[in-house]
Amino acid sequence: MTPPRKLHIKSYGCQMNVYDAQRMVDTLAPEGFVETASADDADLVVLNTCHIREKASEKVYSELGRLRVAKEEAARDGRKMSVVVAGCVAQAEGNEIIRRAPVVDVVVGPQSYHHLPQLLARAKAEGRALETEFPVDDKFGFLPPPSRQAIRARGISSFVTVQEGCDKFCTFCVVPYTRGTEVSRPVAKIIDDVQRLADNGVREITLIGQNVNAYHGDGPDGRPWPLGKLLYRLAEIPGIVRLRYSTSHPRDVEDTLISAHRDLDALMPFVHLPVQSGSDRILAAMNRKHTAADYRRVIDRFRAARQDIAFSSDFIVGFPTETEEDFAATLALVAQIGYAGAYSFKYSPRPGTPAADMQETVSTADMDERLVRLQELIDSQQSAFNRAAIGKTVDVLFERAARNPGQIVGRTAYLQPAHVVAPADIIGQVLPVSVESLERYSLLGSLANAGLSRTPAHANDLSQPIMGA
Ligand code: SAH
Ligand code: SF4
Ligand code: F3S
Repeated sequence: MTPPRKLHIKSYGCQMNVYDAQRMVDTLAPEGFVETASADDADLVVLNTCHIREKASEKVYSELGRLRVAKEEAARDGRKMSVVVAGCVAQAEGNEIIRRAPVVDVVVGPQSYHHLPQLLARAKAEGRALETEFPVDDKFGFLPPPSRQAIRARGISSFVTVQEGCDKFCTFCVVPYTRGTEVSRPVAKIIDDVQRLADNGVREITLIGQNVNAYHGDGPDGRPWPLGKLLYRLAEIPGIVRLRYSTSHPRDVEDTLISAHRDLDALMPFVHLPVQSGSDRILAAMNRKHTAADYRRVIDRFRAARQDIAFSSDFIVGFPTETEEDFAATLALVAQIGYAGAYSFKYSPRPGTPAADMQETVSTADMDERLVRLQELIDSQQSAFNRAAIGKTVDVLFERAARNPGQIVGRTAYLQPAHVVAPADIIGQVLPVSVESLERYSLLGSLANAGLSRTPAHANDLSQPIMGA
């Protein structure tokens, strides 16, 4: 028997990349690869890259610089280290990566991971670096096993891809180019995946897709099912106690998704709904195809269905032509909605996107300053949201032993980490926790007397704007 080969995967970017990294591990396992925590002693290093902002893309090249040294050291020890660049930079730049960084052995795009074993074998046999042809239509539906199958269960919570690609073409965004057009997986395949994961101990499923609520996979009745209908069906699967989905677009929130939030206890009342800007003029320039008022109406529909629902979002500051007045509209929107948290980014022009041809009008200094102001507002909302849990009893799904001995960590409905001192057999259960204090972003508490406290966490706290409208 050949000794196991060591595989190190480093993932950047979104949840889809995290999921894909796990898929690559599962694809390479039959080839004798086992995961290792460090690149230095690895036989195979995979960088699963993100192209979304310039900083993300450039990280790859600095990492490849480090890997060149590690590869040379390995060679001196008589070991061969192979380097693969996967993900969205691979898709966007292809062969250019090999030209810029000869340390790379294989470049493979997000739709071609199932070819990895053959590509590695060919690169080795031919003694040269290889790039796949990136067949963009070669998505889940067409992939041969095992990559088409759900990833192996890893703990209590699992991602399941239901949709890939995006047809929205926001003017700043590379995703429609790196991940291609929208494709939805058939309902039956998703049910199979979730069932298998549930049988293997998974209790929480997050359905993922670049534009997940544009889901329209073929249902068993021969019609396309919207995401809401899929959620109703998945909620029936024994063992699944929590359902989530990410990332949604405000334009694709249809009524069954709203009613699913009203009807399904398993569907968590926490929705990531990026808006990017509060200025209608900037939203139009971004090709978001909705106004700030449209977005507020979507939020209101969710809140009417479920009063304890909370939201997070993404924002871009400094989009070309953004004025101080536009930015003030963003702050006003944030103040009005009241978020449990949000990500905010400085605009980064991306090659090939329409916005890259627009003249940049916002200076770096102004962008920095706007980002700080926005993040201060979001941070204050997030802290208020977390503080509101203190003194309450909240349901926690326990996931694993914490770093502190004797402690078990889980998450609330709002993904806040919660720590309690308890026996390990609570892992996999949802139990009420009395929250006593807050340490940075984590809630600390103790198990509440079971049966006493089933009150929903944070009822009302988020239906009111935290910062005043
Ligand atoms: N599919 C998701 C997320 C796409 S990328 C969605 O539609 O919301 C995640 C976030 O990165 C985006 O929401 C946006 O806020 C940010 N982003 C994308 N392109 C960017 C760019 N060129 N510059 C700065 N931020 C960007
Ligand atoms: Fe990018 Fe817009 Fe699609 Fe989101 S909706 S992935 S921001 S193009
Ligand atoms: Fe990045 Fe690609 Fe995801 S560009 S955000 S890894 S879809």
